Amino acid sequence: MPAIIVIGGQWGDEGKGKIVELLAEKARFVVRYSGGNNAGHTVINQYGEFGLHLIPSGIFYPGVTCVIGNGVVIDPASLIQEMESLKAKGIDISNFFISERAHMVMPYHLLLDALEEEARGAGAIGTTRRGIGPAFVDKTGRQGLRAGDLLEREVLSKRIAEMVTVKNGFITRVYGAAPLSAGDVFEKYWGYSQVLSRYIVDTVALLKDALARKDLVMLEGAQGTLLDPDFGTYPYVTSSYPTAGGGCQGSGIGPKDISRIIGVFKAYSTRVGGGPMPTELTDETATLIRERAREYGTTTGRPRRCGWFDAVAGALSVQVNSLTGMAVTRLDVLDILPTIKICTAYKSGDRVVQRFPAQIDLLEKCCPVYEELPGWLTPTSGVRRYRDLPLAARRYLRRLEELLACPVDIVSVGARREETIMIKPVG
Ligand code: GDP
Ligand code: IMO
Ligand code: MG
Repeated sequence: MPAIIVIGGQWGDEGKGKIVELLAEKARFVVRYSGGNNAGHTVINQYGEFGLHLIPSGIFYPGVTCVIGNGVVIDPASLIQEMESLKAKGIDISNFFISERAHMVMPYHLLLDALEEEARGAGAIGTTRRGIGPAFVDKTGRQGLRAGDLLEREVLSKRIAEMVTVKNGFITRVYGAAPLSAGDVFEKYWGYSQVLSRYIVDTVALLKDALARKDLVMLEGAQGTLLDPDFGTYPYVTSSYPTAGGGCQGSGIGPKDISRIIGVFKAYSTRVGGGPMPTELTDETATLIRERAREYGTTTGRPRRCGWFDAVAGALSVQVNSLTGMAVTRLDVLDILPTIKICTAYKSGDRVVQRFPAQIDLLEKCCPVYEELPGWLTPTSGVRRYRDLPLAARRYLRRLEELLACPVDIVSVGARREETIMIKPVG
């Protein structure tokens, strides 16, 4: 059986964790392929509520092998803490592997993320300050340290000494901050090596064998397409590729092996951090959604900006990811609204804009053109079959399908795994 990719269609936090954990029941492998511990994926199941940052959402199934792929950047301290907290809750994490090619977040990345954000002042990106941007800069700048470097004491020591010297130059001369000690960094990372070495393998070979056996492999996206450095609201984006293309690159699975690409979309929009969001609301509807849906970041606890569904942005997501279907989450959050809006185009001055602009100065000039649909004012969390949804809810979903030219495969009507309407099952 080929691989399936589950990705975020908006600005992240669409409910990927819930959907992946649910679908993982049928999978043999779940692979994270992008981002790092900037991600926060909520899973609610029989073991409790979890906010996963690096470990794939399939970890709760003993028959599922979880992989942190080469496209992820790993903060070893954060990973070890996550492993410990899962173990403390009785979750078996022995069936878990880390790509030897995955880059590591180093202490100077964390420091530089904070220093760079502060230097940006009012133009701050609003990063999660997990060192993600600086770590990917070093990856593409060909000076990163990879998980495989943890395996050899001499290699690790030499690489850390080289890079701490380089980075101390920036830290002290550009930012006037205190330098790091290469010896301290080495001691810490050699300590992490003792815990993590046994998990570090050639995951490309592992996944090749899995596909040859026809095991179902699921790729778990992090972030969302509108945070992609190419297609998102650059420069207010993350630094790796949350797209379907990123799924291939970040796992070592080629495009021919992908059979389905499911884009997860909230039934409305949220964004955390800076940057344009054309359908953002600042009125009482935004407060209502934020409080009803507990729209606060899983990783940083920041309040999420809330607004109506943006079909212009959504259509771009469908296109650049070749989505075969959508999972629409949090439909239940809209249960209490008498009318619901969808942004079907933008207006810039007198001009109607149908495509998501590449430049943020153009996007910032865009006002949403809304279509208003009646709400259903009926609880939907108990619904399990599509035909049992209120007519107005079905009309809303049908309209999203039309506007995005993509079928709805899954509807999520609550945070719990059973609160799901499966239209096109997996596996
Ligand atoms: P992710 O980063 O895409 O995995 O999403 P997050 O976990 O950061 O945020 C999604 C939030 O929505 C979490 O609090 C989930 O528990 C919650 N959630 C997911 N699906 C639904 C749903 O259908 N209804 C409601 N009410 N909450 C949901
Ligand atoms: P999940 O996987 C929502 C946002 C940050 C910031 C921008 C850059 O849970 O959907 P970074 O720390 O990556 O350099 O920050 O990207 N961001 C996310 N927003 N969900 C996420 O992940 C995010 N990961 C990064 O808020 O605006
Ligand atoms: Mg999240």
